[in-house]
Amino acid sequence: MGSLNVEPLLSLDGLADGALVEAEARLGDDSESLVIHRQGDVVRAWLNVCPHAGRRLDWAPGQFLKSREGLLVCAAHGASFELEGGQCVAGPCRGDALRAVAVEVREGQVWLVGAADA
Ligand code: FES
Repeated sequence: MGSLNVEPLLSLDGLADGALVEAEARLGDDSESLVIHRQGDVVRAWLNVCPHAGRRLDWAPGQFLKSREGLLVCAAHGASFELEGGQCVAGPCRGDALRAVAVEVREGQVWLVGAADA
């Protein structure tokens, strides 16, 4: 097991309800791009990697497509993901899912679970 971020990923104030934002996180030895989504008081995160062809989901860094139905749409070939479990519900990888990354909200900041209390 490598080190986790000891800095928060982002401040909850910068994350509007319903927003999708990108954050870089150190997971083990690698720096990974994450998709972060806020739904009310709940914040969820997934790797910014589409299970279809392994591409990033955003069309430009941090710019994610969200459908009118509230699905995250992969910019590469249009796979659509629901934002509770990260399941692909339409498109070329239907039935697959995004890889979840555990996060928690503490003191108004979003942290990777297990990141050092500071
Ligand atoms: S890489 Fe996302 S739909 Fe193809």
